[in-house]
Amino acid sequence: MTKISFIGAGNVGTTAALRVIEKQLGDVVLLDIDSEMALGKSLDLSDYQSSVNGKCKIIGTSDYSLIKDSDIIVVTAGRARKKEEKITREGLAQINTDIIKTVAENIKKYSPDSIVLTVTNPVDKMNKIIFDILQTDRKKIIGVGSLLDSFRLKTVISEELKTPSSAVLGMVIGPHNDDMIPLFSKTTVNGKKITELITADRLTELKKEIQLRGKKITSLMGSGYYAIGNTISLMIETILQDKKEIIPASIILEGEYGITDISVGVPIKLGRNGAEVVEMDFSEKEELVEIAGNMLN
Ligand code: APR
Repeated sequence: MTKISFIGAGNVGTTAALRVIEKQLGDVVLLDIDSEMALGKSLDLSDYQSSVNGKCKIIGTSDYSLIKDSDIIVVTAGRARKKEEKITREGLAQINTDIIKTVAENIKKYSPDSIVLTVTNPVDKMNKIIFDILQTDRKKIIGVGSLLDSFRLKTVISEELKTPSSAVLGMVIGPHNDDMIPLFSKTTVNGKKITELITADRLTELKKEIQLRGKKITSLMGSGYYAIGNTISLMIETILQDKKEIIPASIILEGEYGITDISVGVPIKLGRNGAEVVEMDFSEKEELVEIAGNMLN
């Protein structure tokens, strides 16, 4: 049976787990430093599962040995931004770095061959830390963020053009922070280039809106979890069903786009073996290279 472990059973981890259980993608381990909370959530989710007539095994624990032989491990452990807290994603880096190092050591010890989906922010940095500790195939260490940003692009553009979000095809790449890069040069709405539907000045404003949407949500309710939760479950489904879909995600680059040794959101092909970088031609390439350069600081 497929096994999916969630390290961090907070809002994001459990929302993703809920979607995984709904779709019956595999057995679920919810691991959290707070063992009572993990157990409580596993019981609640087991009852939820009965309501959808599912039969996956659901465990809540703080015992890392139970993640052994996971097909996929989702890492959401850490501290999220709270409402009215001035701290940025990057400001959380120090707190979350220490947590992620412990998490990565335990993955290395108990389930080193799993595909890891890193979600804890700042995700690009955290993904690189996990990669450095696991020293495994870079295809298996994947940061989740740019796909959520791409859903935000769909929302913003569909509202602007008063069209269903399904009509909008587009991607956001780069870091999962305010420097993210909406690939407007590749975005289409009902097959038409967005650059022919919206003026360049308006696109600049919409770019800001996409980049700041996460911040806006956090200022209203604390760090979001519904959209990222489903984004994680979609990526799990894509991996397990070997869909080989091209989506954006953070992966360690080894010379692609002239960038090395940094984890940053780029188009990848996602399937059962993990993520393969798909090098594309787009006019935002210079921006990507410049922003990736800043990430080294
Ligand atoms: N080991 C395991 N779990 C831990 C550890 C640890 N060392 N440290 C903290 N945790 C757990 C907390 O107990 C908490 O249950 O991580 C969980 C985080 O959950 P929330 O505080 O609800 O945060 P959440 O909204 O889920 O966000 C988690 O995902 O999207 C990102 O920016 C977000 O970095 C944040 C992460």
